Amino acid sequence: MAITIKSEREIELMRESCKILAKVHDELGQALHPGMSTLEVDKLGDKLIRSYGCIPNFLNYNGYPASICVSVNEEVVHGIPNKHRILREGDIVSLDAGLIYKGYHSDAARTYGIGQISPEAQKLIDETRNSFFAGIKMAKAGNHLFDISNAIADYIEPLGYGIVRELVGHGIGTSLHEDPQIPNFRQNRRGPKLEAGMTLAIEPMINMGRADVEWLDDDWTVVAEDGRPSAHYENTILITDGEPEILTLL
Ligand code: MF3
Ligand code: CO
Repeated sequence: MAITIKSEREIELMRESCKILAKVHDELGQALHPGMSTLEVDKLGDKLIRSYGCIPNFLNYNGYPASICVSVNEEVVHGIPNKHRILREGDIVSLDAGLIYKGYHSDAARTYGIGQISPEAQKLIDETRNSFFAGIKMAKAGNHLFDISNAIADYIEPLGYGIVRELVGHGIGTSLHEDPQIPNFRQNRRGPKLEAGMTLAIEPMINMGRADVEWLDDDWTVVAEDGRPSAHYENTILITDGEPEILTLL
């Protein structure tokens, strides 16, 4: 399928959807505390999304059983909320959330430390976020999609971290996942040309150790094979003729 170009009206709806998601993330991030279960995180996230009159788009997506993906420490993405999984001081937790507003999807992820965390874990979180910003420096009309991928890879590789390859960013709009796929590792092609009106979810997933991941028996939770921590940072952005608009920031 071709990459969709959103009309002005659609862009307004994407902006609104994404703004609400930014507020949900903000409120959810502030509520995290040691002793909270990952199921409580999901319940609160679901409640916040619905409080804005929106629908959680992850719930039942390909059978995913929750509204928020809550991934702790070595869990990379798609952790399934569980009342027995308790957040402890020193953990890092990635929250991936999305919603539908008037038919338009938004998608964003953040990684937080619970209480005091190690300097190494904080650096992983910070650099994962930095890599997103390195990537979107290239996100403007006239550049090519893989300029973004290569900028993320060029930022991360010297740090010695592992870039997850099995999962990628994506176009987003009236579906959660639209074309194109957006890898976070080096590509030997330029990829499609970026045009104003494209809305993209850019989402580096970065492992402190090796890049290799595996799936747990629940068929959802992706973990770093070496058991070391992993971080995730994602925003939905709009391509313009100038600087990109980061739609899921407050
Ligand atoms: N944010 C994820 C993505 O970008 C979506 C989570 S998958 C789901 O693909 F099944 F949990 F919805
Ligand atoms: Co996404």
